[in-house]
Amino acid sequence: MIETNTDIKEEKRTVSKGSNENERQFEIGLRPQSLADFVGQEDLKVGLQIFMDAAKAREEAMDHVLLYGNPGLGKTTLAHIIAKEMGANIRITSGTALERVGDLAAILSNLKEGDILFIDEIHRMNRSIEEVLYPAMEDYALDIVVGKGPSARTLRLGLERFTIIGATTRLSLLSSPLRDRFGSTYHLSFYTPDEVTKIVNRSAQLLKLSPDTKTCEAIACRSRRTPRIANRLLKRVRDYAQVKHGGDLDEVIANAALDILAIDPLGLDNTDRRLLHTIINNFNGGPVGLSTLAAATQEEQATIEEIYEPFLLQIGFLERTPRGRKATQRAYDHLKSI
Ligand SMILES: Nc1ncnc2c1ncn2[C@@H]1O[C@H](COP(=O)(O)OP(=O)(O)O)[C@@H](O)[C@H]1O
Ligand SMILES: [Mg+2]
Repeated sequence: MIETNTDIKEEKRTVSKGSNENERQFEIGLRPQSLADFVGQEDLKVGLQIFMDAAKAREEAMDHVLLYGNPGLGKTTLAHIIAKEMGANIRITSGTALERVGDLAAILSNLKEGDILFIDEIHRMNRSIEEVLYPAMEDYALDIVVGKGPSARTLRLGLERFTIIGATTRLSLLSSPLRDRFGSTYHLSFYTPDEVTKIVNRSAQLLKLSPDTKTCEAIACRSRRTPRIANRLLKRVRDYAQVKHGGDLDEVIANAALDILAIDPLGLDNTDRRLLHTIINNFNGGPVGLSTLAAATQEEQATIEEIYEPFLLQIGFLERTPRGRKATQRAYDHLKSI
């Protein structure tokens, strides 16, 4: 229940890290198609390229890959790039879509040699389904129980050599037997402002826009170092430019569009600011306990913890102490400056 609530709240935010159905088509059009086109994550790309080259040289299916990192940083994009570079077919499912053991067994038994199965949100898979995956990943076998009670037998069915690409935002929620079965694990980190600027510029070209660097930077700095948010803000800016300025786009127009969205130069929205103002004005800057803060802001504890707080912690505006949340000097300075 709480989760549904936070999902709804999160989707409404312009700075939300998740994407909804409307947005997905737009995102697909902007997806880099090759590793060379994928901006940033340099260490990851070097490692992944070697890993893929080695598998290609051996003419084998690649070993299983686990991608983890915050929403909107490029996990799904990377899975598609890997498939393309390996010349492999990709099947897509997710931890929540796999409801019964039979769902996964059916998918696995239909995979051909070299195929890739992308399992998004793999940490959400339930344990009984996960257990089917162990022998499948390790021995390319499916263990099926036939019959019931004392006469039950296990039949082992051989599978083709395939590759699983798992994606997760919560590595710590993955059981260790599952984690151990991935040949390599890659972490996607937040992008630098320069990298996000490049991504904005690249997406703008694909949308047939040609903003100058300053305009791209204005959008990038409000994007929480996340490509998905950068692309979304670019889209809003484009709409604004079209409606209000006949398609002309420069830094002033971009900033005017972003101001209407009430996203400040650091990417904070109204709710982020309200949270900080509450801590500062009502609780003298904190520390204030999570439940007290939730009551004062009329937000749910889980919403604060999972949605608002991570970014504020990350940019050093909030501190978590044993006695509760504290606003930092940086938060005071920022709120004064806007
Ligand atoms: N490194 C990157 N370079 C360019 N665009 C990117 C990059 N990473 C992500 N994107 C874009 O950001 C959006 C979200 O990426 P996605 O792969 O769906 O994130 P995730 O699966 O981690 O939530 C997509 O439109 C994608 O094209
Ligand atoms: Mg994804």
